[in-house]
Amino acid sequence: MTAQLIDGNALSRHLRADVSARVTALKSRGITPGLAVILVGDNPASQVYVRNKVKACEDTGMHSVLERWPATMSEAELLARVDALNRDSSIHGILVQLPLPGHIDAQKVIEAISPAKDVDGFHIASAGALMTGMPGFWPCTPYGCMKMLESIGYELKGRHAVVIGRSNIVGKPMALMLLQQNATVTICHSGTQNLKAMTLQADVIVAAVGKRNVLTADMVKPGAVVLDVGMNRNDEGKLCGDVDFEGVKEVASWITPVPGGVGPMTITMLMVNTLESAERLAG
Ligand code: GUN
Repeated sequence: MTAQLIDGNALSRHLRADVSARVTALKSRGITPGLAVILVGDNPASQVYVRNKVKACEDTGMHSVLERWPATMSEAELLARVDALNRDSSIHGILVQLPLPGHIDAQKVIEAISPAKDVDGFHIASAGALMTGMPGFWPCTPYGCMKMLESIGYELKGRHAVVIGRSNIVGKPMALMLLQQNATVTICHSGTQNLKAMTLQADVIVAAVGKRNVLTADMVKPGAVVLDVGMNRNDEGKLCGDVDFEGVKEVASWITPVPGGVGPMTITMLMVNTLESAERLAG
């Protein structure tokens, strides 16, 4: 069997067209959704990510502000910027790009963002809302994965989903979202004894470890759906995911490629969250 591709670029285009239309509608009521992105230091990967986020705002008609600060910025200065943006009525979403320099406590900065503007969904209030099924912003990467499953009409109820990775940004919220859709969820991680025994039982596998070839064809049940959150480089410097794509695509029924899979969906869901923040304000 050769798996069908879940095309993150195509799905993103479709979702961003809907975002653009809703942005236009809000603008006609005098509200332009606005996203503030703060980048501290000059991490090359972060620079690419923030540029793509700002470009996505432009493409969907949103207002964006990119603040670039030197790596020497103090924690107090950063907290003061977050506070100012919390009070800025032209800004509906605040994103502090991670990682931050070592002298800044990232969690403290995240907690300083108003939960009403926490479009990354990293605030403890957003995490609590997701856990309890209350309204709140969902972290963009797992939210994008859920949209990908929705796009293929996948019914999660009663299915076994295995999430590999337990980060606060992807693994844990991913597991909660799958659980909310009534999947049976297993979270695997670096301490898991027999990963293959777990993944072979899975109807859906989400690989979110940040390491190449974490999932190979022998670990996948025929017909499973495989979502690859990884962003790694292979020996030739080419972008690749956590999944051995060439092998696994012969076993799975659906699979996301890297690049062009989950990556573009993350930024798309950031646009959705920012738009919805502005819509909530508009009432
Ligand atoms: N660094 C890598 N991914 C992300 C993300 O989704 N949000 C933020 N703020 N930083 C990141």
